[in-house]
Amino acid sequence: MKLLLKGGTVVSSLRSEKADVLIENEKIVSVGEGISAPDAEICDVSGKLLFPGFIDAHTHFDLVGAARTADNFYTGTKAAAAGGTTCVIDFSTADRGMTGRQALEEWHRKADGVSSCDYGFHMSYTEWNDDLSKEVDEMVKEGITSFKLYMAYDNLRVSDADLYKILKRIGEIGGIVGTHCENGDMVKELTADLISHGKTTPEYHPLSRPALVEAEAVFRYLTIAKLADVPVNIVHLSTRLGYEIAEEFRKNGAKVYLETCPQYLVMDDSVYKNGTLTGAKSSDEFEGAKFVISPPIRKKSDCDCLWNALKNNRLDCISTDHCSFNYNKDKELGRDNFSKIPNGAPGVEHRPVVIYTFGVKQGKITKEQMCAYLSTNPAKLYGMYGQKGEIKPGFDADIVVWDENAEWTISKENQNQACDYTPLEGVKVSGIAEKVFLRGTLVSEKGKIVKENHGKYIFRDKCMFYEKD
Ligand code: URP
Ligand code: ZN
Ligand code: ZN
Repeated sequence: MKLLLKGGTVVSSLRSEKADVLIENEKIVSVGEGISAPDAEICDVSGKLLFPGFIDAHTHFDLVGAARTADNFYTGTKAAAAGGTTCVIDFSTADRGMTGRQALEEWHRKADGVSSCDYGFHMSYTEWNDDLSKEVDEMVKEGITSFKLYMAYDNLRVSDADLYKILKRIGEIGGIVGTHCENGDMVKELTADLISHGKTTPEYHPLSRPALVEAEAVFRYLTIAKLADVPVNIVHLSTRLGYEIAEEFRKNGAKVYLETCPQYLVMDDSVYKNGTLTGAKSSDEFEGAKFVISPPIRKKSDCDCLWNALKNNRLDCISTDHCSFNYNKDKELGRDNFSKIPNGAPGVEHRPVVIYTFGVKQGKITKEQMCAYLSTNPAKLYGMYGQKGEIKPGFDADIVVWDENAEWTISKENQNQACDYTPLEGVKVSGIAEKVFLRGTLVSEKGKIVKENHGKYIFRDKCMFYEKD
């Protein structure tokens, strides 16, 4: 069965060109002007942008922490696909005492057969020993070439010594480690100080994890990476201070990849007082809990710095850190103490439209840069380039037909995310994923899933440590 997308503009990370796209057997067969294929079904996409399927390299579906996330792989990947994301990379976590193999089996049980977009897993280690080290080769055979470490959260964080050993080991296999950079000891101390002074409401959450807490961890992580002499990735970078430190290390020759998220670009810390993003003040001061994520939402000056870095091609990926806890019941666990609020918020569905609206439409970045940050760069960094990340012959036919002219308002009422709120409630946006093709199959139209459970596990290759322009 052949499909010909006719009359669209194909966007890549470098340019946009009018071109038809011929698809056969899940793959892109040819891209060019005036393709004729009499035996193909024709889909008229004139006037539309064609992006390679978006990749979200940072999701937490079916995460069990202080509560269980509202989204599992069934709902989370439907939400992803509805917004234009055709591949997610979630975190398979080997809790202390577990092997990587056990963690991987658990994540396959969660995801296999129920996912509506393609998916891979980063392996998250919470300790280190000889058995885990030996098992890394097996992980590579299972398609896992990226790993995640935490410098915060007592049940997840590794010591600096283990961080060093893990970086060296992952360096040997050509993989990459992405790290959550916050100083866990300082978070604990600052939190205890605030709570002991009766400062228990959500507006104190950002004060328990100020920019310096991220900056110190970024500096320490990059110092350890320099000693280990390997390229590294920082996940969900949120501050100007952290960014500037990363740039200093780069100037001295370090290979540092940086991920940020839409929430660190379009929200500022007034959300903790207002309880909304739109500036309207909520009647319940606890509504700030909807924005309790870590790292926290920062200052407007941090957002400006990150946008500027994006404009100058200094960041690598924009992912979501989707980790959706319901407001009712789950976030409520911390009504009397902000440190008991489960950390995380939904976002996988709305990343493309938020970046299009506040980035491309407002002239902060180009559509080609949007393509790089949401698709091409994560495909390269996470070992999928050749399969995903471009509309090119031989690549998977993951294609988002983007209507630039759509105008709509984000609301929990019209979202596919299973969460009982969205931090983007009431935000007016431009653009929509009019059609989403996953390996040539139409899976979503205008935000509604038309074919579910079509996702498959993606075996990933070695990381491509690309240079920046
Ligand atoms: O608050 C967040 N981001 N929760 C998810 C876990 C993490 O730190 O990435
Ligand atoms: Zn994190
Ligand atoms: Zn995360």
